[in-house]
Amino acid sequence: MRLKGKVCVVTGSSRGIGAAIARAYAREGATVAVTYKSSKEAGEEVARECGSELCLPLDVCSRESIRACFAAVAERHDRIDVLVNNAGVNRTGDFDEITDEMWDDVVDTDLKGVFLCCQEALPHLPDNGRVINIGSLSGEYGGPRTPSYAAAKMGVMALTHCMARFVAHRGITVNCLSPGVIDSDLTTQSMPPFLKEKILPLILLGRLGRYDEVTEAAIFLASEGASYVTAQTLSVNGGAWVR
Ligand SMILES: NC(=O)c1ccc[n+]([C@@H]2O[C@H](COP(=O)([O-])OP(=O)(O)OC[C@H]3O[C@@H](n4cnc5c(N)ncnc54)[C@H](OP(=O)(O)O)[C@@H]3O)[C@@H](O)[C@H]2O)c1
Repeated sequence: MRLKGKVCVVTGSSRGIGAAIARAYAREGATVAVTYKSSKEAGEEVARECGSELCLPLDVCSRESIRACFAAVAERHDRIDVLVNNAGVNRTGDFDEITDEMWDDVVDTDLKGVFLCCQEALPHLPDNGRVINIGSLSGEYGGPRTPSYAAAKMGVMALTHCMARFVAHRGITVNCLSPGVIDSDLTTQSMPPFLKEKILPLILLGRLGRYDEVTEAAIFLASEGASYVTAQTLSVNGGAWVR
C-alpha cells in the first residue's frame, strides 16, 4: 500500500485516465475524491469502486467551482495530500482550421484549469504534498492536428516548473506526467484509424499504451519513493517520436 492514509483529489476522474488513476490510488490505500463535470453517474460509479464517499462536481474552468470542491474535501479530511490535475479536452483540426472558440475551450480547460487548480490547492496542501499535472506527448513534440492542445500541454510543463519553485521550501513536489498515445476514449474519438496506423510506427514499442502503465507512474509520483523528484516531466509513451 504505497498511498495509505493519503487524501487525493483527481480532477476529471469520472472517465478515462482520471478514473483509472482514482481506482489505482484507492487500491494503494488512498482516500480519493472523485470529480466529474458532466458524467455524474459514471463519477458515482468510480467513487463506489474506490470506496469513496466523495464524488464532487468540478469545472476546472471556474475558480468558484474549484474552490467549492477543494473546500468540501478539506472540510471532511482537513487537507489534500495529492492533487492530480487530469481533467482535459482536445479539439483536433489542422493549424488553419482551429477557431477562436476551439482554442479557448482547450486552453481554458487544459492550461488555465491546471493553473486555477494549483493556485486553489495551495492552502490545502500540507508540507510534503504532491501535485501531478497530466501533460501529453503532444505538449512535448507538437502532435498532429492539435495546435491548441499541444500549446496548452507545453504550457503545463512550464507551469509545473513555476509551481515547483514556489512550493519547494515546503517539501511539496510538482511534476508533470506526460502520457503518450493511450488506448482510451479520447484517442479513439479524436484519431481516425488511418492516423493510428501512421502513429504506431513512430512508437518504439510498436503499440498504444495502457491505463495501468500510466497509473503506475502516477502512483510513483505520489508515493514516498518520489520524495526527491520535482519539476520533472515523466514521459510514459513507449519511446514515441524518437524514430
Ligand atoms: N488518452 C490519451 O491517449 C492521452 C494521452 C496524453 C494525455 N492525455 C491526457 O490525460 C488526461 C485524461 O485524458 P482521457 O483520455 O482520460 O480523457 P477523457 O476520457 O475524455 O476524460 C476527460 C475527463 O476530464 C473531465 N473534464 C473535461 N472537461 C472538464 C472541465 N472543464 N472540468 C472538469 N473536468 C473536466 C471529464 O469529465 P466529464 O466526463 O464528467 O464531463 C472526464 O472525466 C487529459 O488531460 C488528457 O489530455 C490523454
